[in-house]
Parts: sequence; structure tokens; C-alpha cells
Amino acid sequence: MPKRQIYLTGFMGTGKSTILNCLHQLCGLQKIEMDEQIVQEQGMSIPDIFAQKGEETFRNLETELVKRISHMDNIVVSCGGGTVMRQCNVEEMKKNGTIVLLTATPQTVYERVKGSHNRPLLEKNMNPQYIEQLMEARRPKYEAAADIIVKTDGRTAKEICQEIKERL
Ligand code: S3P
Repeated sequence: MPKRQIYLTGFMGTGKSTILNCLHQLCGLQKIEMDEQIVQEQGMSIPDIFAQKGEETFRNLETELVKRISHMDNIVVSCGGGTVMRQCNVEEMKKNGTIVLLTATPQTVYERVKGSHNRPLLEKNMNPQYIEQLMEARRPKYEAAADIIVKTDGRTAKEICQEIKERL
């Protein structure tokens, strides 16, 4: 493996957490789920952090966590869907890591996330049209950050992980 860290990024519902678990098992890397870590450290859910402390505070917590993670070895990290929107995070991640962008169509994302109430950015607009709009607005930053881009529509986690492993 050329670098010591794998960062999984991509829009909400592109399968980052599923692929995290799969790569953890397949490659024997320690796994870190950024959202989970922030929830644990803050003792609050993501919707509560957004509602009570604001999105900016959540983004600062992400940036602070990225800095800590970037010193670790042999890890696979599932980022929050917005982590690579900050260029300083991308730069930190690239020091020792490979950034893997997972993609899916707006319709696939909608099918995967529609039942969940854990995503404050979609809470008021849970529909494929809004998902597409936000995804398109973010696309340039996702693509600029990515070292490897992997499609997830209609594929199993195992197939996706094999592709990532081969392309690292
Ligand atoms: C966000 C994605 C979420 C979570 C937060 C903000 C985003 O993570 O970090 O709700 O800005 O895209 P997932 O992509 O794991 O749902």
C-alpha cells in the first residue's frame, strides 16, 4: 500500500460506512468513523450538534479531528459527507493518505437515506431534486480532492472494496 491512510469521502448515502467496515476486514486496517467519533466525544447526536451549536461548530470539530487523525498509521477513515468541502482538511488528509471518492446517483442516494433522521442537511428537503442540487454544487470539490473515484450504484460492498484495493 503506497500510503498509510485511506480516506473514504463522498456525498451522504454513497456507502462510506459500509465500505469502511469492508476495508477494515479485508485489509486489516484500524477503522475510524468521523461522525461516530464526534458524536462520542461531544456526547450529542449530529442533529443535536447542528441544532444547538450550529453547523460552523460541527465543521470546526471535523477539522480538529482530521488534524488528529492525520498522525495515525494504518487506518481507514470514513469522513462526513462535507469534510472535503474545506480545503485545509483535504491538504491535511493528503499528507499521508489516499482520498477515495464514492459516488452514486441522486436517486440511489435518496433510496438509501430516505428513512433516516440523522442528516440535518436533508431533514427539510428529503427528495431526489434537492439531493441532486446539493450534489452538483459540491461535485467540483469532491472531484478535485479525489485520488480515486469509485461508482457504487448497483454494486456489492465486496466488489467496491476489491476495486479500491486494486487501485490503491
Ligand atoms: C454531512 C454529512 C453527514 C454528517 C453531517 C453533514 C454533509 O455524514 O457529517 O450530517 O455535510 O454532507 P454522512 O455523509 O456520513 O451522512
